[in-house]
Amino acid sequence: MIIYFTGTGNSLAAARRLADKIGDRAVPLRSVRDAELAAERCIGIVFPVYCFDVPPPVRAFLAQAMFAKGAYIYFVATCGASVGRAIRTAIRLIAGNGAEVSLSRKLRYPDSASVAVGANANPKTSRCTKAEAEIDAIAKDIEACHRDLHEVHGSAAAALAATRVGRALVSWAFRQEPDPSICNGCGLCAKVCPCLNIEVADGLAHIRNRAQCAHCMACVQFCPRQAMTIRGRRIQPELRYHHPGVTAADLFAELSFRASPKLSERGDAKTLETRQTTLPRPTMPPTNARIFSRWRRQPPNRFARVQKRRNARLG
Ligand SMILES: Cc1cc2nc3c(=O)[nH]c(=O)nc-3n(C[C@H](O)[C@H](O)[C@H](O)COP(=O)(O)O)c2cc1C
Ligand code: SF4
Ligand code: SF4
Repeated sequence: MIIYFTGTGNSLAAARRLADKIGDRAVPLRSVRDAELAAERCIGIVFPVYCFDVPPPVRAFLAQAMFAKGAYIYFVATCGASVGRAIRTAIRLIAGNGAEVSLSRKLRYPDSASVAVGANANPKTSRCTKAEAEIDAIAKDIEACHRDLHEVHGSAAAALAATRVGRALVSWAFRQEPDPSICNGCGLCAKVCPCLNIEVADGLAHIRNRAQCAHCMACVQFCPRQAMTIRGRRIQPELRYHHPGVTAADLFAELSFRASPKLSERGDAKTLETRQTTLPRPTMPPTNARIFSRWRRQPPNRFARVQKRRNARLG
């Protein structure tokens, strides 16, 4: 099983090609079932590098994933230039659950974040072709069950980005904002968002929870009207990038699983239940109704009790 997380399709394209070469299947991170994972003997995890580290959804997954004892686990990190400390972080995360990584590799692709600084990643699509040759070599290593780790090192930049100030800076620099004057509520951004962090209400896209955004750029790169801006700055159509072999519909694979309640009808309800309780889910911003219900569940407030005691004293 090859598990992938992707924003603009680079990691999906890598996972697919690898799956083709070794006769495995590529599964979106969100569709992985615990029982399936525990039964796999060969598991690949393909993920992009964000800010020299592992993207938060992948981090959450690795921290709780339970792999079969002795499973052959490998990581493929896709990046624009440098993996930073991403592979080291990933190794540490699964080591926390007693698992061991056998192989790690890096693949260079066009940088999906370059749009945030007004740069064009499209002239670098030749990297996608180069990556294919590297994937074929990785496939041979996997088939031979090679054990060697590449790109395992730390990164001062990643450490800085992980501080409170660093995180604030990153979320400011990549801040996605739908422009209400351009958005027509088509909902494509909500479908491609791997974090389920966009909803369309009253004909407009809304980011549900800024803290849950992985800044993967999928919404920015796939919006057909360039209505998803970065810090209010509209993206020129020619600057938009996604892997040339991946379409928005390919990213819906994740959505189609979620939109399939038929699972319970197929008698597979237990698996669905397990998934819902164990896989990382985006935390929704508390709505008024939820705040209200939480408030109602709380014991009578302290001031009411004080008031009652005072009234009792006064007779
Ligand atoms: C928010 C963000 C941060 C990124 N940070 C890095 C980085 O630190 N180093 C790097 O080499 N590439 C970085 N990239 C580029 C991606 O790692 C690269 O384009 C990757 O292949 C994207 O994969 P995807 O299309 O599967 O999301 C970043 C991209 C994004 C969106
Ligand atoms: S894809 Fe663009 S136009 Fe469509 S809902 Fe999202 S932001 Fe609006
Ligand atoms: S809101 Fe946009 S940038 Fe953030 S996780 Fe979703 S698709 Fe990616």
